[in-house]
Amino acid sequence: MYASPGQPLWLDYYPRGEFQSHQSQQPLLPQLLSGPRFPRIRPMAGYPLGSVMVSRVGFGAMQLPGPGVFGPPRDRSAALAVLRRAVELGVDHIDTAQFYGPDVANELIRAALHPYPDNLALVSKVSARRDVSGSWLRADNPVQLRQGIEENLRSLGVERLAAVNLRLMEDARPDQRFDDQLAAMIKARDDGLIGGVGLSNVAREHLLHAFDRTDIACVQNPLTLADRTSMPVLEECHARGTAFVPFFPLGSAFARSNPVLGNPAVLRTARRLGYTPAQIALAWLLSLRPNVLLIPGTSSVRHLEENIAVRGIELDQQAQDELAAAA
Ligand SMILES: NC(=O)c1ccc[n+]([C@@H]2O[C@H](COP(=O)([O-])OP(=O)(O)OC[C@H]3O[C@@H](n4cnc5c(N)ncnc54)[C@H](OP(=O)(O)O)[C@@H]3O)[C@@H](O)[C@H]2O)c1
Repeated sequence: MYASPGQPLWLDYYPRGEFQSHQSQQPLLPQLLSGPRFPRIRPMAGYPLGSVMVSRVGFGAMQLPGPGVFGPPRDRSAALAVLRRAVELGVDHIDTAQFYGPDVANELIRAALHPYPDNLALVSKVSARRDVSGSWLRADNPVQLRQGIEENLRSLGVERLAAVNLRLMEDARPDQRFDDQLAAMIKARDDGLIGGVGLSNVAREHLLHAFDRTDIACVQNPLTLADRTSMPVLEECHARGTAFVPFFPLGSAFARSNPVLGNPAVLRTARRLGYTPAQIALAWLLSLRPNVLLIPGTSSVRHLEENIAVRGIELDQQAQDELAAAA
């Protein structure tokens, strides 16, 4: 039932060469683009993030800057080591943002990994900026979105990002403003700056509205067993063959009492199966749907290794039942 601890990490990959590297222009195999979409996806196979195939366990760079995602890391060499170890262990999807730091996460990624492996999908998000005290401010009109994309390209040292998420900063329903933002993202894709348009912090209504206008490569919303508000968005993404990337998969670094890692069902299951609470929480997310791509954030190599090892974990029925009831 469980993968052996020594199971090779590459088992969750499709054979190399079948899929487009985001830095090349080779088309995907035609059958992957016909319906039903992506029928060959196995539970632990990778999943398409727009036009690139990525492993289901990636890495989120938000924990690399200093406390509060502001300023330099406490230990720069440790932050660089986390990034290098991630790639060494097969991570091929890193989520970042220019406003992590600001300018810190991207600089670290570039310092640690440039020139990047061909198969590394760098994904960013736009719509925010930081002020001198670290407050998060909106920067989400079409001109600012374009500038945000260009700043990411410059600081990461690439000509194109695999995808960039339009991160909504308010709860407004899809309106003209949303259409204008979407148009800026589509233009950036048409201009070759980004491989795919992503959305973040959206309701299903936004998603349907956006799907009527263009392809959506990925959606990044909060989703954990303690907060399932985004389940309808996940289901819609699944039906459309769009990657769903839960943010705060471990309950975030912001929560005072962590609703995920401190959840009694998570703790019980972890004890019974011999895994850590973080691994159980991540394995539960992976078990939801094959289009779930993880980007847990960490500043620690030990946690990183633990998180990546979740690729080999399959939850038994008892765990599934207890975790399903644990909201
Ligand atoms: N689109 C958006 O609006 C949005 C919003 C937030 C985040 N994100 C993205 O989502 C990614 C994930 O979210 P997140 O980093 O904020 O939160 P998260 O992954 O839910 O949790 C990070 C916290 O968990 C800890 N942690 C990591 N691995 C652990 C382990 N194995 N055992 C125990 N604790 C562990 C980290 O501490 P250590 O550093 O000590 O490991 C950190 O405090 C971010 O990195 C970012 O890329 C996107």
